[in-house]
Amino acid sequence: MSRYIPEEIIRDIKARADIYEVISSYIPLKKLGNRWKALCPFHQEKTPSFTVSPERQAYHCFGCGKGGNVFTFIMEKENVDFVNAAHILASRYGIIIPENSSKNLTDEDKKKLNQREQLYTLHKELASSYTNMLFSPKGIAGLTYLKQRGISENIIKDFMLGFAPESWDFAINEAKNYGYSEEILVTSGIAVDKQNSKRIYDRFRNRIMFPIWNEQGKIVAFSGRTIEAEPMGGKYVNSPETPIFKKGNILYALPISRDGIRKHQFAILCEGQIDVIAMHRAEFNNAVAPQGTAFTDEQAKLLKRYTNKVYICFDGDTAGIKATFKALNILLINNIEVKIIELPKGSDPDSIFTQKGKDGLGEYVTAAQDFLDFSIKELSKKYNLNSPFEKNQILHKLLEIISKIENTIVKTTYISLVAQHLKLPEKTVLQEFNKGKKQTYYQNIPVPKEFEFEQKNKKIKEKIDPAVAVAEETLLELSIINEEIPRRLEEELPIEMISDTPIGKALNLAISLTLNDERENIHSELGMLLNEYPDSDLSRILSLPMKISSNYDFDKSVSECIKAIISVKLNEEINKLMTDIKQTQDINKKREITKKITLLRKEIIQLKHN
Ligand code: UTP
Ligand code: MN
Repeated sequence: MSRYIPEEIIRDIKARADIYEVISSYIPLKKLGNRWKALCPFHQEKTPSFTVSPERQAYHCFGCGKGGNVFTFIMEKENVDFVNAAHILASRYGIIIPENSSKNLTDEDKKKLNQREQLYTLHKELASSYTNMLFSPKGIAGLTYLKQRGISENIIKDFMLGFAPESWDFAINEAKNYGYSEEILVTSGIAVDKQNSKRIYDRFRNRIMFPIWNEQGKIVAFSGRTIEAEPMGGKYVNSPETPIFKKGNILYALPISRDGIRKHQFAILCEGQIDVIAMHRAEFNNAVAPQGTAFTDEQAKLLKRYTNKVYICFDGDTAGIKATFKALNILLINNIEVKIIELPKGSDPDSIFTQKGKDGLGEYVTAAQDFLDFSIKELSKKYNLNSPFEKNQILHKLLEIISKIENTIVKTTYISLVAQHLKLPEKTVLQEFNKGKKQTYYQNIPVPKEFEFEQKNKKIKEKIDPAVAVAEETLLELSIINEEIPRRLEEELPIEMISDTPIGKALNLAISLTLNDERENIHSELGMLLNEYPDSDLSRILSLPMKISSNYDFDKSVSECIKAIISVKLNEEINKLMTDIKQTQDINKKREITKKITLLRKEIIQLKHN
């Protein structure tokens, strides 16, 4: 085993070994807002104080104070040093650590590693060749083009822009001077090998060159924009997919926007390079782009590592709007809050910045609207809200989008917003939504579990006395607002009298969170219950807080609820004893049961007079 691990490899491991994935393979993690929680693996505890933040790629225990990153976690857990921890992680993620002697690597491994390394360095070296070319006399056309679009030298530097001259072999000659083979040039896609031509030639000619970075900041591809008004090829020409470049896995400018995303606490999703640059020029250094292709699930997951909120800012044309709806769905599936920056028809961020400057573009960003408002506005252009039939179509289109949201609280809240917007009773909308489960748009989200749950839940609820159901609901609502209530319930309401319904389970949880001094997270903890018990009464209580007037008598309400529950339970017991008494012939037993019944009746009377 090699004791020396190159810096590059360490960074590679860090980028690939996701802390959530690593830690959750050792201990079960429970979701809590942006974080995950667990019982600390490093000290004894009864309530979880160990938290993992995927966003920060860090963990911390508020109980024992231990914290760190993926490497320190493995070091602690496996009791190994840093080098060994790196080896454990590397082998898990298929990363090869080169041996000094290289004797443990197969020839195949060596070839692959060598090829990837060569591709990285080739891109890096050619990027600087392209930049040098931009500032040389032969690059004057490129520099003029950029100046004419208002792009300064600082931007050129930040984005490492360059210029590929009008030549069939500029890049090929540069690469050969650096010592690269034709084979690796063709693999990289920078040179093209057409079968019927004798020689290979440069893919990028007479174009402004945009290096494309992967998440670790390594250049893995190029995109070239023509400087001609009517180019031979496309407006943009891009590297093909290669061993180091998978288009759908990469977001343009992520490495240089990462800090901006953290600072702004949201990311802006644009269509392409020029728009990202316009956003950065307007001081929105939190912009990234899928580069003109359809936004993918991988890209959403990539963003999710840095933020939970994304503003989509695509072109203000039909294609842009269509792409917005697609990206919106993918982001929602990934539990990301979505806003839409709507630009005038025919505009893109770059044209707005050019016409109206930093403040002009900034105004559009500030005016970003919630995805629901945007969707309703767009749909009302196509359908007539005054026609009951078309209103129904809008409703179903909206429900289809909302069905992508996993979190039940968020989903329920949007359903009630839809009802408000379309002026429909909330219950009707909810019914339609549930009916929708049979429709095609549900294929994307896992509903069978929820379906099964509904059947079971219905049975459990039917068995419960309505008086108990009402009392428990009230107690749950009061327990969320006022921490004295759960403490009182612990004293006065026997735990076995609390029902087995989702509301009863929530009430139990509220009591135990309060007793364990964990009330600060009561909302999210109760919200977690919805994953297992997607009950609509529960989600309603959690999403719409009870309104309490200033003279509300908490004590009296609680007493009444407790009394209601206990007296139902006592009556149930009496009924049971009554059947027992009828079934037994034994006179002594009959007498014994009668005594019990009398006692229970007394208890009920006392309860009423308390
Ligand atoms: P646009 O056609 O909207 O380009 O394509 P743009 O951003 O307005 O660029 P300018 O202002 O004309 O220079 C958006 C993105 O789609 C990809 C590129 O990534 C581009 O940034 N695209 C576009 C291609 O890959 N190939 C093309 O031929 C066109
Ligand atoms: Mn443009």
